[in-house]
This record gives sequence, C-alpha cells and structure tokens, in this order.
Amino acid sequence: MTPLIVPEHSWCARPAAADWSCPPPPSTPAELHRSLPAYAATPLTDVPGLAAEWGVRRVVVKDESARLGLPAFKALGVYYALYRMVQDHLGGAPVAPDIDSLRAAVRRIPDLELVTATDGNHGRALAHVARTLGVPSRIFVPDVVPQGAIDAIRKERADVVVRPENYDETVALAAADARGRPGAVLVQDTAWEDYEIVPQYIVDGYSTMFVEIDEQLGADRAALVVTPVGVGSLAQAVINHYKSRGRPVSVLGVEPDTAACVLTSLRAERPVSVPTGSTVMAGLNCGTPSSLAWPYLRDGLDAVAVVTDAQSLTAARQLADAGIPAGPCGAACVSGVRSVLADPAGRAALGLDAGSVVVLLSTEKSRQAEHLGFRDEGDRERRRGETG
Ligand SMILES: Cc1ncc(COP(=O)(O)O)c(C=O)c1O
Repeated sequence: MTPLIVPEHSWCARPAAADWSCPPPPSTPAELHRSLPAYAATPLTDVPGLAAEWGVRRVVVKDESARLGLPAFKALGVYYALYRMVQDHLGGAPVAPDIDSLRAAVRRIPDLELVTATDGNHGRALAHVARTLGVPSRIFVPDVVPQGAIDAIRKERADVVVRPENYDETVALAAADARGRPGAVLVQDTAWEDYEIVPQYIVDGYSTMFVEIDEQLGADRAALVVTPVGVGSLAQAVINHYKSRGRPVSVLGVEPDTAACVLTSLRAERPVSVPTGSTVMAGLNCGTPSSLAWPYLRDGLDAVAVVTDAQSLTAARQLADAGIPAGPCGAACVSGVRSVLADPAGRAALGLDAGSVVVLLSTEKSRQAEHLGFRDEGDRERRRGETG
C-alpha cells in the first residue's frame, strides 16, 4: 500500500506517485479540435505576483474561459467523444478527425439523441455541440446548479430536466433515461463499472489542453500542474499526459471541502462516496470518483488539497485583478497551492524550488465576468475607460 502523509486535514501527499508512469494518450484529439472553426489555443498567462508569493520562477494560468465558443474547457471532451462514438456506431469504419467528416458521419445515424447529467459545464458543452451538429439533446441537472447555468443550457435548445436529487443520483437518472429510449445515447463525463468507454473518450479529448501548454511553454517545462477535481476525469487526463513523458512533473488536485471524494477515497485506499450539498465550485460538486480515474488518482496523483468557498472566491478576485476571468473551480487551484505551502512539509511534497514553473488550470470563466462580457485584460482596461 502507498504510504500516505497526512500533515493536516486540508491536504495529503502520496510520495510514490513521483515514480509512477503510464502510456501516453492518443494524438487524434488535437487534430480533430484544430479542424473546428471556433478553435484557437487558449491563453497561458504569467502571474508574477503568485510566483513571488510562492518563491518559484514562474506561475502560469491556462485560461479556459473562452474555449470553442463556450466559457469552460468541457467541449474538448464532448467533441472527441462524439467523434469516437460515431465511429464505433458505424462499425469502426474510419472517420477522418475533422469536423466535416464528423458532421457527415452523424447524418448517417438518423435517430441519434444525446443525453447527459451535469453540474453545469459538461451539459452546456454537450447541448452546444449537439446543436452545432443538428442532433437533439436531453440534459439532466440537479436543482442546486445555479439558475444562470440552467438557462445557458436551455439556450442551446436542449430538453433540460431539473431534478431534486444530487449529482450522483442525477447521473443514474440520465443513464436510465438513455437506456430506455431507442436512439438515445449517454455521453457522461464520469465512469462506473459497466460504463467506461465514453468517459475514456472524454478524458482523451481533454489532452489538447496539455498539448497546447507544452507548445506555449516552449523550452520551459512544468514542475507542478494543479487541477481542480470533481469526479477526477480532468485530473486523470492531466496525470495521463504528464506521467507518460519520462520527466518528473508533480500533479496536485484540488477539491471543495464539501465534496472531497478523492481526498476521502485516497485516505480509505479505495473509491468511496461522500455526501454533497452546494458549493460555489459547482463543477466540482461530485460525491464519487470516476472508476476510470481512480487508478490514475491512486497511483499518479502527488497530492490533493481541499479548499473552502471563501478561499476560492478570494483567489478568483485576485486572478481577476491579474486579468484572468477565473471562475471558482479554476481559482481553487490557487487556494490549493496556498494551503499546501502553508505547511512546512508542503514545498518538498510538491517538488518546488526557486527555479520551478507552476501551471494552474483555470477551467471556466467567472459568471460575473461572463455577465460583464469580460474577456481579457484589454477588455478590462477598455471597460474601466468606458465606466470612467
Ligand atoms: C469548471 C470545471 N472545472 C473542473 C471540473 C472537474 O472535472 P472532473 O469532474 O473531471 O474532475 C469541472 C467538471 O465539471 C468543471 O465544470
């Protein structure tokens, strides 16, 4: 069993993860994404204030606030999953990894309907991509999801079903709905024992984010990558990319303290479910780790930290001041590093020194920023000018 260091309640480290490695993800997702008309690499922005605070050479934030026309990274997974699912449905006949071929292949499946459950971003991405491809979608949403997020899914012309159950239970409802109707297929971003093919495609789709980061860093390389964690699918993609490269990169996962299923599972040495309520980090409000992500989290995650709503909101304000319109899920990465570094053992556990480059994944746009139309630092300056 991997030794677990638990210096305090808010984080833990797994030293054995430093030596763990896995085969690399496929390279097709980036090819498919680059063919999309809305594709552009998202910005990687230096935050010198955080580098100074943490005593490292660079802190860079991968800003997913405008990804493929949506305010979160999730469409990366959806596009690639649909591409692979359509190919499987057509009996494995090769479909070229480009949007025109995907569109043509989708037209060959007349009764297709896409179904999912969501705590916000994944469902919006699925509804958006479905509309773009001319396919109907049905999206199940727990009623703790903010009304603005539900409205945004409806605007994509999805059939939205709002439910009183929590996220885990809503996923089960969506799965049952898709099973019960011909033509309906579940496109879920979490896995369980008998549902692992599609979530793996989604995880593979996220890899484009890391391919871009590698290109943007050039000769520089990350010492630590920090990712928000809900069910752990994004963390799985981070680990799959960075632990398949033969060079040591640490991965820190960050969860809300009210939905800390990964920290709890790591402590139990097996996947366990925790009860969830509501949190400003809506995208991370998940009670059960993905079954596919679990082996990666167990063996390849170097550390996990939990943060409070207040900590993540403070960090979001600080990132906004640095010109990055981060929502609470991505901003949690800043708070997570802070809570680990507050412990004397934290710096060594994260493998940081004065020469290190730290990458933070800001996975969504802040709702306030979305409302204000805040897009980048230039926009902020212009708005300041306009308001006076
Ligand atoms: C904004 C945001 N960040 C991070 C995540 C975490 O992803 P995962 O559930 O794969 O851990 C999500 C998931 O919905 C999200 O919406």
